[in-house]
Amino acid sequence: MLNNKGFDLWADNYDKSVDISDEEGTYPFAGYKIILNEIYNRVLGSSGKKVLDIGFGTGTLTSKLYEQGCDVFGQDFSEKMIIMAKKKMPNAHLFQGDMTEGLVIPLLQEKYDSIIATYSLHHLTNEQKIKFIRLLSGLLKDGGSIYIGDVAFSTWEELEKCKRDAGDNWDDDEIYFVYEELNKYFPDMVFEQMSCCAGVLTLRDSLEMKK
Ligand SMILES: C[S@@+](CC[C@H](N)C(=O)[O-])C[C@H]1O[C@@H](n2cnc3c(N)ncnc32)[C@H](O)[C@@H]1O
Repeated sequence: MLNNKGFDLWADNYDKSVDISDEEGTYPFAGYKIILNEIYNRVLGSSGKKVLDIGFGTGTLTSKLYEQGCDVFGQDFSEKMIIMAKKKMPNAHLFQGDMTEGLVIPLLQEKYDSIIATYSLHHLTNEQKIKFIRLLSGLLKDGGSIYIGDVAFSTWEELEKCKRDAGDNWDDDEIYFVYEELNKYFPDMVFEQMSCCAGVLTLRDSLEMKK
């Protein structure tokens, strides 16, 4: 598993390596642009513009939302990624923090219309994911939504097929979303498959979630 220094080293080449895998339609980034575009449209289509981005990286998605007037908050643990994102979003509220330890205090003190996490939560174990998503859901404003875009599958069977097809390229350090598993903990969560290996998971603020 890459630590924050590993991501520091990847930062300069990150956008390029994502583009190549997306354009080739291969694991792990097949569907990347479609997913980011879909989340971009949904966030801008919602009524409020206060957005929290978890693991914002170089700011590929959030900087576009920022340019459209969103009030952007975010947490990432890579110093280098933060420097690159800050250049694109000088007035955003970007913090360094490890999500395996939760969120930094200033981010816990706000409520958000949209919480987004693209290609970042697969660095959490399944147990950590459930705990973290519960924490995030408590930070949504009434009617807000969480959008997770990531390597994700409907079923374990589909994950296993992708793993076989990817062969040596499969990254055993990353823990991908399997909807049939997550749905047991978040019955209201919706999953839309967007490519052979990725999709969008949506969780809307609901009375059920607040119980
Ligand atoms: C694959 S990049 C995704 C970046 C961006 N969201 C995108 O869609 O292009 C994953 C990001 O998550 C961050 N990250 C990974 N593990 C993290 C952790 N434990 N705490 C905070 N950030 C983390 C990395 O620094 C990196 O910026």
